[in-house]
Amino acid sequence: MKRFSNLRRPPNLGAQIPVDYTAQLDTAIARLHDEGRYRTFIDIERRNGHFPHAVRTRPDGSQQNITVWCGNDYLGMGQHPVVLNAMHEAVDATGAGSGGTRNISGTTVYHKRLEAELADLHGKEAALLFTSAYIANDATLSTLPKLFPGLIIYSDALNHASMIEGVRRNGGAKRIFRHNDVAHLRELLEADDPKAPKLIAFESIYSMDSDFGPIEEICDLADEFGALTYLDEVHAVGMYGPRGGGVAERDRLAHRIDIINGTLAKAFGVIGGYIAASAKFCDAVRSYAPGFIFTTSLPPAVAAGAAASVAYLKSAPELRKQHQTQASILKLRLKGMGLPLIDHGSHIVPVIVGNPIHTKKLSDMLLDDYGIYVQPINFPTVPRGTERLRFTPSPVHGSEELDLLVTGLNALWTQCELNRDERAG
Ligand SMILES: Cc1ncc(COP(=O)(O)O)c(C=O)c1O
Repeated sequence: MKRFSNLRRPPNLGAQIPVDYTAQLDTAIARLHDEGRYRTFIDIERRNGHFPHAVRTRPDGSQQNITVWCGNDYLGMGQHPVVLNAMHEAVDATGAGSGGTRNISGTTVYHKRLEAELADLHGKEAALLFTSAYIANDATLSTLPKLFPGLIIYSDALNHASMIEGVRRNGGAKRIFRHNDVAHLRELLEADDPKAPKLIAFESIYSMDSDFGPIEEICDLADEFGALTYLDEVHAVGMYGPRGGGVAERDRLAHRIDIINGTLAKAFGVIGGYIAASAKFCDAVRSYAPGFIFTTSLPPAVAAGAAASVAYLKSAPELRKQHQTQASILKLRLKGMGLPLIDHGSHIVPVIVGNPIHTKKLSDMLLDDYGIYVQPINFPTVPRGTERLRFTPSPVHGSEELDLLVTGLNALWTQCELNRDERAG
């Protein structure tokens, strides 16, 4: 029986392990290949000052110039001089890591400044930093029943994996409402004890379908049923609202959201996540959430770069406008080609291919033949049969890049035997 050659076990124990671990891994990986959803990471090197251009290293070691069309550095802030200068200064001043958890020597002036910047962005009393928005969602949602015994969480069916995981792990009651279906949410709320503490968790932009959550209607229901509101604005912060506070800010609803979750890794171009809420809420999560307590805090230079990015974008409405314009142009041109794209008016442009093998083939050919990098999106990220290419135009994608993308897609769509007319209908 095969085993991992480096699998150590104490002497005299497990001499008869009846499990062929290697064969099980082979089966699991083969299943991914069979279903056409084995994930291949494209090896790319971003070049400072040249985004969205980057260099890809092929499996044979050769290099290729590419244009990134699927990144989440939505506004190009990951290479913005304001961000880089702040990071350089902080590295020079303090060094690399923070050297501790927030509680044990890892809270610096940079972390405090960033939290203040984020609280101000969302018009909240406080903000709390996490190492990512994934962790912020998971740690906060999994901690809530400790703060509110008997809490029932109402979660949109298409919520991000990090929210699902936090709700799943918290051991409390949960109800899943059909995506964006406020009538269903109402039914679920009505069916529960009116005195039970409740929280509705949802997103402002669902990144795979690029649609918006019905924030106002959900806030109305929350008021009616005495529920807290938890809004993931990961795909909106920096990009929507007069100061980049997200869709809730744009729609003047931020004051009706109790807890806002955001990322520093997408439009802000760095890394890290946060919640913004009341001072008391952040204070409680700070002391109860293992995902906040038992991990090293973000490096000070990261906090400095993120703070500079948030501050810069507060007064960069032009960049937000350019971003939306680029997205509109791309959508218009793809629609003109008859491609089956989803358009709910947000900046993300998903084109449905509907088959994992075709999606991968199209993505591979765009990369190899045109230097266009767009990652195939497969199950479980999206439901089977809705596999897609998901384009994320930014203000730094110019007309030349756009022309090449349209040319490449136009040529390859038919080659991949995709019946454009049927699908566009
Ligand atoms: C809706 C949503 N929430 C949270 C996250 C996690 O964000 P982060 O990359 O900061 O962990 C993502 C990541 O893509 C996301 O799409």
